[in-house]
Amino acid sequence: MIPEVTGFSKLSKESKIDWLINTHFNASNEAKNTLLTYWNSDQKLQQLHEEFAENTISNFYLPFSIAPNFTINNKRYTIPMTIEESSVVAAASNAAKFWNRRGGFKAKVINTEKIGQVHFSFNGDSKKLETFFISVKPKLIKAITDIQANMKKRGGGLLDIKLRNKTTEIPNYYQLHCTFETVDAMGANFINTCLEQFSQTFQSEAYNYKLFSEQEKEIEIIMSILSNYVPNCIVRAEVSCPILDLPNTPQLSSLAYAEKIIRAITIAEKEPYRAVTHNKGIMNGIDAVVLATGNDFRAIEAGAHAYASKSGTYSSLTHAYIENDTLTYYIEIPLAVGTIGGLTSLHPMVKLAMELLGKPNAKELMKIIAVAGLAQNFGAVNSLITTGIQKGHMKMHLLNILNQHDATKEEKEKIVQYFIENTITHSEVLHQLALLRA
Ligand code: MEV
Repeated sequence: MIPEVTGFSKLSKESKIDWLINTHFNASNEAKNTLLTYWNSDQKLQQLHEEFAENTISNFYLPFSIAPNFTINNKRYTIPMTIEESSVVAAASNAAKFWNRRGGFKAKVINTEKIGQVHFSFNGDSKKLETFFISVKPKLIKAITDIQANMKKRGGGLLDIKLRNKTTEIPNYYQLHCTFETVDAMGANFINTCLEQFSQTFQSEAYNYKLFSEQEKEIEIIMSILSNYVPNCIVRAEVSCPILDLPNTPQLSSLAYAEKIIRAITIAEKEPYRAVTHNKGIMNGIDAVVLATGNDFRAIEAGAHAYASKSGTYSSLTHAYIENDTLTYYIEIPLAVGTIGGLTSLHPMVKLAMELLGKPNAKELMKIIAVAGLAQNFGAVNSLITTGIQKGHMKMHLLNILNQHDATKEEKEKIVQYFIENTITHSEVLHQLALLRA
């Protein structure tokens, strides 16, 4: 077993690499070179990236791509996407063009409320706790005066604090359920700072509350933390067009196409096995923009999937219906994102992505991200109900296969040309490569 290492985070980057190479890679120069190759020659930039996280020893590239031609509320956007899956950006771009010619995307933010909770145990009379809460609430709000001063100036701050009795679920378990408006910040730090202040004030006030017994005074704070479930921070994006404007082929009339879309969405609404994959496709688009704009994709993922389960059954995040011979296709999703704070002003690529989008505020970014998710889902469902996804997917994957086998530029060109007319499979690509090399 590799001996435990102490004081590792204090070692220099070079010493960390030496330790790693000696303990895990048989002192191989190849592994070391791989790490060094990915260092940025601009030392300031390299240092900036190293300071984002502890024990950084190199960088990890993901493609930074752009999907042009998005029309959202009559404004044209080129959307930055950071994602490794080869067909995602192509699908988004195709969907953008498809809907451009049919009125573009419409998006609106429904609400922007964020949530945080202080979870605590109270062993005593819940009626007395309610009375105490009413008396202490103004003190809780006062205690965060300084913390929320800047946020208030920007039009945000604490919205409300409610006491919630959860003792039917867990004995002695209560919450301070707090709601916030954080405007253009994602708000995690702000919310957590407020919550920790609430917990301190709440506990110390309880200790001095004359109507509590000695036991009741001993409120135990379990934890204070924001919730990534934000069912009241919702954005809706939609596309719609007359059925007659939908693709019309000998295999599938416009009406049959629209009905097949509805059926595919209904399956995703009712059948969790399909819903998970359907939503995964949506998150292909959402995460790519969330990542490119320096937001927390894990928070977005967790919140989106919780929202997809809000009925008690995991279901689709997109929906569709036909009314007056028009197909409407929409997404409703919680998106707690920020355009200030966090990585947004630090990471040069994030800054560039924000500039590319015209420096959106958080509400505008919510709309753009929701549209990327809807476009991605439309692209996937469109392929699934017509050609199947493998055709487009393998086309994009072709270069990955060729790169894995060190194909030269000429080999790539010839093989890409060959597969314009032929079905791409992994074995057929290798066969063609072998023929060329023979
Ligand atoms: C692949 O990353 C995403 C899809 O599976 C989504 C879907 O099935 O809707 C194509």
